Amino acid sequence: MRVLGIETSCDETAAAVVDDGGHILADLVRTQLDEHAAYGGVVPEIAARSHVDHLDRVIAAALEQAGIGFAELDGVAATAGPGLIGGVMVGLMTGKAIASVHAKPLIAVNHLEAHALSARLVETVDFPYLLLLVSGGHCQLVVVEGVGRYRRLGTTIDDALGEAFDKAARMLGLGYPGGPAVEAAAAAGDPERFALPRPMRGRKGCDFSFSGLKTALRRVCETLADSPPSARDAADLSAGFQAAVGDILEDRLRNAAAQFHAAHGDGGTLVVAGGVAANRYLRDRLGTAARTLGLTLVAPPAALCTDNGAMVAWAGIERLQLGLTDSLDARARPRWPLEDLREQAMAVSA
Ligand code: KG4
Ligand code: ZN
Repeated sequence: MRVLGIETSCDETAAAVVDDGGHILADLVRTQLDEHAAYGGVVPEIAARSHVDHLDRVIAAALEQAGIGFAELDGVAATAGPGLIGGVMVGLMTGKAIASVHAKPLIAVNHLEAHALSARLVETVDFPYLLLLVSGGHCQLVVVEGVGRYRRLGTTIDDALGEAFDKAARMLGLGYPGGPAVEAAAAAGDPERFALPRPMRGRKGCDFSFSGLKTALRRVCETLADSPPSARDAADLSAGFQAAVGDILEDRLRNAAAQFHAAHGDGGTLVVAGGVAANRYLRDRLGTAARTLGLTLVAPPAALCTDNGAMVAWAGIERLQLGLTDSLDARARPRWPLEDLREQAMAVSA
């Protein structure tokens, strides 16, 4: 079984071909970084137009790399949300057109589900598992009970973690996108030099908050001689910020693991996914934390953590195998919580 995956929900125009044995036959990502850099963030209209300009070519190149034509596909999977609606519409409409012309099943993929299932593309991970989803738009702890079956344990009450990284980078004069820049700067920094808070630490439940950390960072920046901060200060603040994030994740994870173990017994897997999961420092911290809590950490390779078409194709395969396909009137959705997938999954399994 071979499925084409199309991803256009943010600033990556991506297409991939994946088979049901977990082989990635092609995986192309065209980033729009240069087009948005001058604005310090993603501009939705520019993103949508750029997807229109490039998607057809990226799809054609992916098929060429996979060495197949549309006729040899078993399905077409396209991100249908959540995300920037203009871009989502471009990808979903393109997927519908291909599915319609070549009479292939369409799978309208939830972008969060694509991140959530990405670990199963590269490793054997059985349901249920605990998922930490950390991306530019989301920060959630979720129990993944099966395809389409998600139970949320906690979420951010303000900023998403990737967003916090991006804002921190802007304050520190490190540019955009922030995550990789903060990680690189932190490598040479002293995490102890500046005292930064750990919001929510020690509180009940699994929710996150990052706005207090962001505010504390801004206050420190205001006390520094240089604006933006010198390379030395930016490195130390990056390291301090990352260490604080590590402590927060570890604390929230402890509560989530307790809930997961109470419901499903000891042991199990922690999957970390989403763009922030590309961060090596946090991957190490999470690996150690997971071990202490009796969980095994599975973190997909960095290229599968940031937005890509392979994870969308894989989610399409998982759904196709269960008969969970969509009609050509599937909607593009700016907002689409994981929990909303349960109804469709239950209807099919009933
Ligand atoms: O999953 P993703 O590619 O797009 C969304 O669905 O949001 O995540 C993008 C986010 C950005 O905020 C980016 O700064 C962050 O992931 N990110 C990182 C790293 N690489 C990407 N954050 C921390 N460290 C990284 N190495
Ligand atoms: Zn994403």
